[in-house]
Amino acid sequence: MAEVVVQADRRSEGILINDDWPGYRLDLFNYPAHYSGDLDCVIIPHGVIMDRTERLARNIMDDLGDHDIVVLCVLKGGYQFCADLVERIKALSRNSNHTIPMRVHFIRLRSYLNDQSTEDLHILGAEDLSFLAGKNVLIVEGIVGTGKTMETLLKHVEAFRPKMIKVAGLLVKRVQHSLACIPDYVGFEIPNRFVVGYALDYNEYFRDLNHICVISESGMKKYKV
Ligand code: HPA
Ligand code: MG
Repeated sequence: MAEVVVQADRRSEGILINDDWPGYRLDLFNYPAHYSGDLDCVIIPHGVIMDRTERLARNIMDDLGDHDIVVLCVLKGGYQFCADLVERIKALSRNSNHTIPMRVHFIRLRSYLNDQSTEDLHILGAEDLSFLAGKNVLIVEGIVGTGKTMETLLKHVEAFRPKMIKVAGLLVKRVQHSLACIPDYVGFEIPNRFVVGYALDYNEYFRDLNHICVISESGMKKYKV
C-alpha cells in the first residue's frame, strides 16, 4: 500500500482569520448565560481550537521528539492552551515510538489593563530559572499581541542559557507594525481586535468561557476598571 504522506503545514503561519470574518452568531453555541450581552460573536469555537492544538502537538513532536523539554506556561492566559497542548503531546507520546519527557513550569506575566498593554511588564514566579540551563524550552502563550511581552520574556529566559527556545502561541494578532516576536508554532492569526475566552481575559473576566469570542462595547464598559 502506498505510504500516506501528510503534507507539512507552513509551520509558523497558523490558520488565517481575515479582518472581514464576521464570526459565528452567539446563539449558535452554548456559552455561560452570565455573559449574555457582553460578546459580539464567536471568532473561534472551542472544537476548532482543540483540533488545531492537536496538530500543533504533532508538529512539536516531529521537531522535538526524543528531546527532554521544559514547558514554560505563561499564566494566566496560557493555562488552558498549555494544559490541552501538553495533554495532546502526552497522547502522541503514548502512541508512538517518539517520546518526550516533559517538565512543566509556570511563569506569570501581567501587562494588560482593560484592553491596553501597559509599559511595565511584571514577571512573577520567574525568580530563579537557572534550572533551564542547557535545556530545551517550549514557551507556551495564549496570545501574542504586540510581541513586546514575548520579546521581554525571551530575553529573560535566554539569560539562563537554555540549549534551545521554541515558542508556541495559540493566537497571534495581526498588528500594523511587524511583530517583535513571531512564535515558532502558531494556532491562529487573528484580526487586531480584543478577544476573550479559553483563559484569555478582560480584567480577569471571561476566562470561564470555552470559545474565543470578540467582546462587545457594552461588555467592555461593564467590566472596565
Ligand atoms: N485578549 C486578551 N488578552 C490579550 C489580548 C486580547 O485580545 N491581547 C493581548 N492580551
Ligand atoms: Mg490578560
